Amino acid sequence: MTSPTIHLVCAARPNFMKIAPLYHALKNETWCVPEIVHTGQHYDYQMSQAFFDDFGLPPAHHYLGVGSGTHAEQTAKTMLAYEALCLAKGNPDLIIVVGDVNATMACSIVGKKLHLKVAHLEAGLRSFDRTMPEEINRIVTDVISDYHWTPSEDANENLLKEGISKEKISFVGNIMIDTYCMMRPKIFAAESYKQFGFRSKQYAVLTLHRPNNVDNATNIREIMNALQQVDMSFIFPVHPRTKKKLDELSVLPSNIQTTEPLSYIDFMSLVENSAYIITDSGGIQEETTYLGIPCFTLRTTTERPITVTMGSNQLVTVDNILEKLRSPKHGSVPPLWDGKTAGRMIPLIKDLI
Ligand code: UD1
Repeated sequence: MTSPTIHLVCAARPNFMKIAPLYHALKNETWCVPEIVHTGQHYDYQMSQAFFDDFGLPPAHHYLGVGSGTHAEQTAKTMLAYEALCLAKGNPDLIIVVGDVNATMACSIVGKKLHLKVAHLEAGLRSFDRTMPEEINRIVTDVISDYHWTPSEDANENLLKEGISKEKISFVGNIMIDTYCMMRPKIFAAESYKQFGFRSKQYAVLTLHRPNNVDNATNIREIMNALQQVDMSFIFPVHPRTKKKLDELSVLPSNIQTTEPLSYIDFMSLVENSAYIITDSGGIQEETTYLGIPCFTLRTTTERPITVTMGSNQLVTVDNILEKLRSPKHGSVPPLWDGKTAGRMIPLIKDLI
């Protein structure tokens, strides 16, 4: 008898660090065969393969080559390609989707329409802002998934309020912290800030890629104008989406040095040695909370409120960022953000299949 197959679905940069610890934990088990399904939403070397290299992942067992497009195009292409894969290669015994990107929703819909078991890792996070595409992906994925693995107690509460039954929810902890712990010796050794001519804690990191901040010329101009007034040198790894806009407008102040998107090790080394970080990312709010590095999030909401209530994160706007930068927070580490999440998931997964 062949062992049950588990699909680990990934698509875009923030997904790779969520499947890596799980893949490494599952590949050592004799009772299942984990297979990586990469939908191809992110495809540039630095947005995709660099993470497979850093994490020691094998090439994806299935690569769907979906690429860029509007939300409907990307979601529809992912559904078509994933359904075709399941039909051609035989249905997996469990589909694990992670995070909140378009593929998370697309593959969970395909799985459920094929009557397959679907589990959502990082379930229950809510920004309560339905203008964010990720919020729609989170809600749809959670409403149809069979199993919900959450990173924090607030996520459990959100799911219960939405009518998900208690037995389907497991508070497993934050898988991103497993990745950080797995990579810590290499991150510590990298000292990437030296490549950019900085000294430890004498610079800050900037990342921006949310449509609300970067697609609109006025908003990105206002952000750059505000940061120009800060007495700090910034290193800014530029997401392809943001690069398009920055190339159109000449708005970069002289205290911001840009670079291409970085590998996980280089980026986390920069974060770990920085004075603080300004971002609109979801995952970076968690990583900085774990590291106790002050994080200023240029958004009006966060789906990760524990990073604000317990951690080092503060939500800021262009109007108050200069004032907020004067009061950095260091915070503390939330429960079960301990590098052992994948280990807690193995018996749960074994029970399911
Ligand atoms: C996606 C996710 C977002 C996540 C982010 C991390 C959704 C709805 N959004 O947003 O949640 O925080 O990834 O990066 O799934 N591009 C390239 N090369 C690439 C990938 C993208 O040049 O490898 C360019 C394309 O021109 C594309 C644009 O970047 O149109 C945006 O990419 P897309 O995948 O649509 O969304 P992200 O903004 O990356």
